[in-house]
Amino acid sequence: MWKIGHRGACGYAAENSIASFQKALDLGVDALELDVNCSADGTVMVIHDATLDRTTNSHGLVQTKTSAELKTLGIPTLLEVIELVRRRVIINIEFKSKEAMMPTLSLLNQRISEGKNSGSDFLLSSFDWDILAEIAAMNLGFPLGVLYEDLQKDPIVFAQNIHAYSLHPDYKLLTFETVKSIQQKGFKIYPWTVNALEDIERLKSWQVDGIISDFPDRL
Ligand code: G3P
Ligand code: CA
Repeated sequence: MWKIGHRGACGYAAENSIASFQKALDLGVDALELDVNCSADGTVMVIHDATLDRTTNSHGLVQTKTSAELKTLGIPTLLEVIELVRRRVIINIEFKSKEAMMPTLSLLNQRISEGKNSGSDFLLSSFDWDILAEIAAMNLGFPLGVLYEDLQKDPIVFAQNIHAYSLHPDYKLLTFETVKSIQQKGFKIYPWTVNALEDIERLKSWQVDGIISDFPDRL
């Protein structure tokens, strides 16, 4: 079962910071989860929100600032995280905006063409299924993860349509039966964001394929 560090190991360090990713590596994760948005100059930045207000001492929209400005606020670029990781663990990249999609794919394809990474070093996920469908149609070979927080649309049907690798549900949606049904259809299942020990133990007893946690050492 994969131990997946949420926004690095954000129970121990500032979310989506280099310190958080290093902490997760130190704790022995199998994968890092992070969020991407795009700067004004088209650089892929690792930050959860579209705005700076919650996680920095600045204000305004990420997409209106240059990457140089954003780096002074402690926001890493995706490239910096990829270079920190050095292929030791999988990087689960969550697209928080459509604007971040093409710059991210360009960066990953460049890394692959330079022989520095392979497609399977990454797992691309989003709550925005249009983004996932668009990436699937490009046939680039990246594993795709379907994120969902409700059952308004059937995630299994969508995952089949785009030949996804994995389903990433809010853990509260799961039962033993749904876990088994997802796995029997050939998908991995990586629920989020699971921090309480009793929830972790229940999901482990159901043999989920991985758990996304702020405290990856609890896994
Ligand atoms: O990828 C799982 C989880 O990170 C999704 O929710 O809001 O933490 O990005 P959020
Ligand atoms: Ca996320």
